[in-house]
Amino acid sequence: MLNKIRLWKNQNNSSTLRDKIEKIKELPVPDHVAIIMDGNGRWAKKRALPRIAGHHEGMKVVRKTTMLANDLGIKNLTLYAFSTENWKRPKNEVEYIMKLPEEFLGTFLPELIENNVQVKMIGYKDQLPLHTLKAIEKAIEQTKNNNGLILNFALNYGSRAEIIDAVKKVLNDYQRGILKEEDLDEERFSSYLMTSSLPDPDLLIRTSGEIRLSNFMLWQLAYSEFWFTDVLWPDFDEEHFLKAIEAFQKRQRRFGGL
Ligand code: IPE
Ligand code: IPE
Ligand code: MG
Repeated sequence: MLNKIRLWKNQNNSSTLRDKIEKIKELPVPDHVAIIMDGNGRWAKKRALPRIAGHHEGMKVVRKTTMLANDLGIKNLTLYAFSTENWKRPKNEVEYIMKLPEEFLGTFLPELIENNVQVKMIGYKDQLPLHTLKAIEKAIEQTKNNNGLILNFALNYGSRAEIIDAVKKVLNDYQRGILKEEDLDEERFSSYLMTSSLPDPDLLIRTSGEIRLSNFMLWQLAYSEFWFTDVLWPDFDEEHFLKAIEAFQKRQRRFGGL
């Protein structure tokens, strides 16, 4: 497939960027990258814009990051878009964020399909506004047979609630005799989580300078490599993403061994 990346740096940089991409592809890339896309509000504030302008700008970065992940041959990209705690925000901000999937997929879905991307979602669907859910479900349905990059949105996702729900399902299956105590191991427990069809993230990226997980994938990140940057999400560009991948490629993962 032709390279579909539209570079968002000035074009003079494009050849060096292309070189960097090709160089990175010579070494193994992470199979699953998860990103806590943080700093939209501060990006807007710095420009004396309303917070929602930051969310809108951030949406453009989602597209470009997806395309680069695809080009790098990363198999799974999970993007933390809205946490179960984000409902605490002002109503107008929440309403705006809930419109973004429609806007994003409304313009970008054909491009995702063209690039063989499969859309998935983790998070609680029940509390989402119907229009948000419909947009996501349409994208999931229309991309379900694609076998390229998995673009997984964490929307209304919270890891503690996910773990508690998994425990409840385990108890239920135990009571019904579907699950025996001796069969419950880490792998089996993982199958009760929302991420059951995905491998654990190899690399976690968080933007905006916050050094915390904010209730994101507490189980799944047990042995992931972490990469933090002060860059605010709307300013996150190809160079930053490549830097994170390069850093990952230099890490030595031991998983407790030597
Ligand atoms: C991340 O940016 C997007 C969401 C949490 C929805 P923020 O909105 O948290 O931006 P800051 O952290 O306030 O700058
Ligand atoms: C985490 O960011 C959630 C998302 C990026 C969707 P927050 O901005 O909500 O996290 P805190 O409140 O700073 O921990
Ligand atoms: Mg934030």
